[in-house]
Amino acid sequence: MPLTTEEKAASKASEGALAPLLELRGISKSFGRADVLSDFSLSVNPAEFLTLVGPSGCGKTTILRLIAGFEKPQAGRIILAGRDVTDLPPYRRDIHTVFQSYALFPHYDVFENVAFSLRIRGLDEEGIRERVTEVLALAKLSGLERRKPDQLSGGQMQRVALARSLAGRPSLLLLDEPLGALDLKLRREMQMELKNIQRRLDIAFIYVTHDQEEATTMSDRIVVLNRGQIEQLGEPREIYEKPRTSFVASFMGAANVLEARVLSSSASSIEIKIEDEIDCAVPNSDSAPVAPAGRVYVAIRPERVAIHAQRPDDRTPAILKRVQVKEHVFLGHSSQVYLKLFEKSPRPFWALCRSSQMNGALAPGQWVWAQFKPEDVLVLEPAERR
Ligand SMILES: Nc1ncnc2c1ncn2[C@@H]1O[C@H](COP(=O)(O)OP(=O)(O)O)[C@@H](O)[C@H]1O
Ligand SMILES: [Mg+2]
Repeated sequence: MPLTTEEKAASKASEGALAPLLELRGISKSFGRADVLSDFSLSVNPAEFLTLVGPSGCGKTTILRLIAGFEKPQAGRIILAGRDVTDLPPYRRDIHTVFQSYALFPHYDVFENVAFSLRIRGLDEEGIRERVTEVLALAKLSGLERRKPDQLSGGQMQRVALARSLAGRPSLLLLDEPLGALDLKLRREMQMELKNIQRRLDIAFIYVTHDQEEATTMSDRIVVLNRGQIEQLGEPREIYEKPRTSFVASFMGAANVLEARVLSSSASSIEIKIEDEIDCAVPNSDSAPVAPAGRVYVAIRPERVAIHAQRPDDRTPAILKRVQVKEHVFLGHSSQVYLKLFEKSPRPFWALCRSSQMNGALAPGQWVWAQFKPEDVLVLEPAERR
C-alpha cells in the first residue's frame, strides 16, 4: 500500500533526525596563546563525504587531530556514535587517518602493509587474506601484493595507505590532504576513485583540502573554514550559488566582490545601488528583508558576465553597461576580460568568456558592452562587519 502524505512526511522527518555519527560540541583548542578553535561545533552524518576546506592555517588539521585523538581540546566534548570519546586515546576510537605522507613500512610488501593492523587485532589468516584481497581490489592494487613501497609510484603508495585504513573497516575515515603530493592529472583520477570507494562502503569520510575545486568535486557537504570559524556549511552547489559572505564567494570559485547600498527591500526582492553607480533589483533568496540604507557586499561570478562588441538587443532584464577593456588574458578554453566597470571601485572587475564565443582578441581601450542578469548579483553579508 502506498504511504500517505503524513506517513511520508513522518518518515522524512525521522530520516532528518538520523543520529549523527560524530559530534563536536563547543570545542576550544589553543596552542600557547594562539586560539585556533573556540566554541567550535560540527555534526557529521553516517556514511557522508564531508569536506573541510579553507586557507592554510585556518585549523583543518587541528580539527582532524582532535577527532582522531592526537590532540586534546581545552573545552568541549567529542561524541562518536553516541559515545563520549573525548578522553579516549586514538586506538580506542573507531577512526582511521590517511595522511599526505603515506607512512608505509618500507620493508613490508603491499599485502603486509595492509594486513599489519589486522594482525595486531588478532584476525585469523583466512580472515586477513579475504579482507586484504577485498580492499586491494577496491583500491585497484590487485596484482601488486608482493611489491615493496620503493617499487610503487606516488599514486600507488597513496592507494596502499588508503587500503590499509579501509581494511579495519572504521566507521569514520579522516583524510588530511591525501592527494597533495600527486600531480594534477593523477589527482583528478584519484578524486573520482575516492568518491566511488566512499559511496560503495558504509564509511563516513572527513576530507581536508585547501583546494576548492577538489572539495566541490567530491563532497556531499562542505564546511568552509576561516580562522577556526565555520563561514558556511552546505552542499557544494548551494555554497557556490548562494555564498553568504565575501570570503566564501571569493574562496569557493572566483567572484567580483563589490559594495552596494540597499535602497529598499521586501521579502521577494532587494533594490540596491552597486558601487554608487548601477541600480538594480535582485531577488531576495533569504526572504528576510535587509535593512534599507545599509551597506552590503555583493558578488558577481565572472562567468556570468557576458561581453558584446555591439549592443545586444535581447529583451530579458539585464544590467548593461558600455565599458572600456583594460586587459584581455587568453587562457585557452576561456578568456579573462578585465574591465573598468565602476569608476570608484578599487578592485578590477572581470568577465570569464568562452574563447569560442570571443571574436578574436580585445585590445586594451576598446569599447564593449558588459551584461549580467539581476539574479546573478549575489547579495552577501553587511559591509560593516569587516
Ligand atoms: N602543535 C602546534 N603547536 C603550535 N601551533 C600549532 C600547532 N599545530 C597547529 N598550530 C597552529 O594552529 C593553526 C592552525 O593550524 P592547522 O590546523 O595545521 O591549519 P591547516 O591544517 O588548516 O593549515 C596555525 O596557526 C598553526 O600554526
Ligand atoms: Mg593542514
